Amino acid sequence: MIFTVAIDGPAAAGKGTISRAVAARFGLRHLDTGLLYRAVGVLGGDPVTAARGLRAEDLARDDLRSLAAGQAASKVAVIPEVRAALVEFQRKFARSKGGAVLDGRDIGTVICPEAEVKLYVTASPEVRAHRRWLEVGGDEGAVLAEVKERDARDMGRADAPLRAAVDAVVIDTSEMGIDEAVARAAAVVEMVLKARR
Ligand code: DC
Repeated sequence: MIFTVAIDGPAAAGKGTISRAVAARFGLRHLDTGLLYRAVGVLGGDPVTAARGLRAEDLARDDLRSLAAGQAASKVAVIPEVRAALVEFQRKFARSKGGAVLDGRDIGTVICPEAEVKLYVTASPEVRAHRRWLEVGGDEGAVLAEVKERDARDMGRADAPLRAAVDAVVIDTSEMGIDEAVARAAAVVEMVLKARR
């Protein structure tokens, strides 16, 4: 079965949790595409060279989840040659046998416009910053500023900016617990799978 679930949206909207839960429920492989950009960001040196030479062990580093890695990722992600170097791997993963869930910023719009399911998971900047702050601590105002800065860069870049695909189902998790968000996403996937049977 070739079956792709594309899950896009801004930082800390709940994409990661929803993606992992949907992948587990339907027995699909999962790729967190943000890790590719985070690895390129933290590797240092020339980002284009880093992207072209990315190895599996680079994605297993334990410093990829930090706020600094997120900012570094967002900065290298504006470089078209970096994005181009990462396209093929993501496309192959998306269309590999057995089905896959990919979460990121441009999965439904650029990487896999033919995805069978497209979700756009979002929430207000304040709610997303609060969630991120609960994880990382520190000054909540600074975390909100960081979230807004990353949104502006991810949505404003010329190449593959963050936006909902026209045919994406939007899930706003601002006033939703994670269980409800997962249930909504799973219901969409279930409906599409049923229609194919
Ligand atoms: O999803 P994340 O927070 O791990 O992503 C980190 C950064 O990587 C994000 O701010 C922009 C970039 N990114 C991207 O440009 N395209 C993707 N498909 C995934 C992430």
